[in-house]
Amino acid sequence: MTSASFHPAAGPARRTVVAAAGAAGLTAVLAACGGSDEDASGGGAASSGAPSEEAGGGDGGGGTELAATADIPEGGGMVFADQKVVVTQPSAGEFKAFSAICTHQGCAVKSVSDGVINCPCHNSNFSITDGSVRSGPAPKPLPAVRITVNGDSIQLAG
Ligand code: FES
Repeated sequence: MTSASFHPAAGPARRTVVAAAGAAGLTAVLAACGGSDEDASGGGAASSGAPSEEAGGGDGGGGTELAATADIPEGGGMVFADQKVVVTQPSAGEFKAFSAICTHQGCAVKSVSDGVINCPCHNSNFSITDGSVRSGPAPKPLPAVRITVNGDSIQLAG
């Protein structure tokens, strides 16, 4: 029935427990120092992307004037070969600009018609609204180019 070995064991057992606790405490401290047991999931992906907009842009020195707003047909656009820029007016009063260098093999886009910018080399067409590829082999949209509209003047913005 009840085993007598319970009693005698109580003494030594308690000592053992205390000693173990001490050791465990030490281990815990050391582990805390190392602190390497937690898997650092997610790490420091906090992209503290401070929008590094350079405040202070030149005062008035001015961008290159590309065109007058009246030059750009609504629902169409115009290619500026020298500046390698296409300026479009997808809807009244809304002007956009894109690189005129085709993302396929680097030809200069040639014209704007039917709401698309055309590359003559292999017939890629790009949206006048966002430069996205509408057809043809071009792999990527035409990159946007920054412009500013001052009154009725369209200028390249740095
Ligand atoms: S370079 Fe423009 S379609 Fe090929």
